[in-house]
Amino acid sequence: MTTDEVAAVVATCNRMHVSVVPQGGNTGLVGGGVPRANEVVLSTERLDVIGAVDAIGRTIRCGAGVTLSRLRSAAMEDGFDLPLDLASRDVATVGGMVATNAGGLQVFRYGHMRSQLAGVSAVLGDGTVVERMSGLRKDTAGYDLAGMLCGSEGTLAVVTEVLLKLVPIARSRLTLVVGLSGVQQALELVAAVRTLTHTLQSAEIVFADGVRLAEELFGTRSVLRRPYPCELLLELVSDSAHDPLIEIAGVALAQFGVEDNAAVSDNESTRAEFWAMRERHPELVVRLGGPRKLDVSVPLRAVPQLESLVRTAIGRVPGLVAVLYGHVGDGSLHVNISVADGVAASVEDIVFPIVAELGGSISAEHGIGVDKRAWLGLIRSSADVQMMRRIKQAFDPQEIMNPGVIFSD
Ligand code: MLT
Ligand code: ZN
Repeated sequence: MTTDEVAAVVATCNRMHVSVVPQGGNTGLVGGGVPRANEVVLSTERLDVIGAVDAIGRTIRCGAGVTLSRLRSAAMEDGFDLPLDLASRDVATVGGMVATNAGGLQVFRYGHMRSQLAGVSAVLGDGTVVERMSGLRKDTAGYDLAGMLCGSEGTLAVVTEVLLKLVPIARSRLTLVVGLSGVQQALELVAAVRTLTHTLQSAEIVFADGVRLAEELFGTRSVLRRPYPCELLLELVSDSAHDPLIEIAGVALAQFGVEDNAAVSDNESTRAEFWAMRERHPELVVRLGGPRKLDVSVPLRAVPQLESLVRTAIGRVPGLVAVLYGHVGDGSLHVNISVADGVAASVEDIVFPIVAELGGSISAEHGIGVDKRAWLGLIRSSADVQMMRRIKQAFDPQEIMNPGVIFSD
């Protein structure tokens, strides 16, 4: 399948006033790729070609339907990796990741998908093809159309091809789990490690209640010897085999007097065990039943407040169980809530006003989709939403692209 073929499909839909729902790996959590009424679903699955690695430009080109795992494997054959990773790596496609401006486990060091994009080909709502594939690191000629498509959730265009930046493959890696007194201490430890090294790549947090649930429901064991209010997973990654990662980590842990609370992995065989506790967390509310998954972010200094205010507010409603975890280094927490049968509470109405009050975002990673559009006004002014609607008009004059997503109908 080619960009021109996609263009022909979209142009026909535009002529016939038929709406289009672009669909990648279908890993979205906000209903952004789900057809609702009489739309054509345009799957990117057959846009699956991977180009050669450009070792000098440090980029790789591929079709929008290529999964993250496949692309990473291709890059690794030439000694490179993508500076972006997330749990749905085997299913999520790079086109969908551009459309949602995917984040994940390394945003902390490298930024979102928008930061990785060196070029894009896309088909706009009227069938026009826009191509920005030069791969230039510097290009200030007018508007950044490629960047604009990041996070547009299929409402502006269908992404058909992408050119992504690469980084050298990891030559050494250190994964630590540290038991801490709470989020505040976690933030301070992360800040201390960052002043010592640029190699800190992930900073993920789980809390005692989630750890206990993971042990009960999945038999997943903490790598720490005893329970702590929270566990902070830190991963330091270097493209040199000689970086003294263990010494650096030791200095930071000693500064906080927490060296005895830590477990350390410096090899691939134990690494999976270190990540397991964090990686099983998204499934906890699914197992508990009635899962609602919110992904929010606040300024780093406000994360402790976010945690305590959300726990208190959720705790007041019988039948709700909150599991918090996530990318604490980015100020981004997953607030997953199990809602018991028959409980009518709107978890969004409980959590989102708290987030807005703290100056945060109701969507750190998953997008607005259909599910969160009713709350967009909490964090975006009407002038802001109007501006976004005008941008949509310019890309998609007949509004056939993913109608009802981001904006209310
Ligand atoms: C994660 O960080 O694990 C993901 O964003 C997935 C999720 O929360 O469901
Ligand atoms: Zn996440």
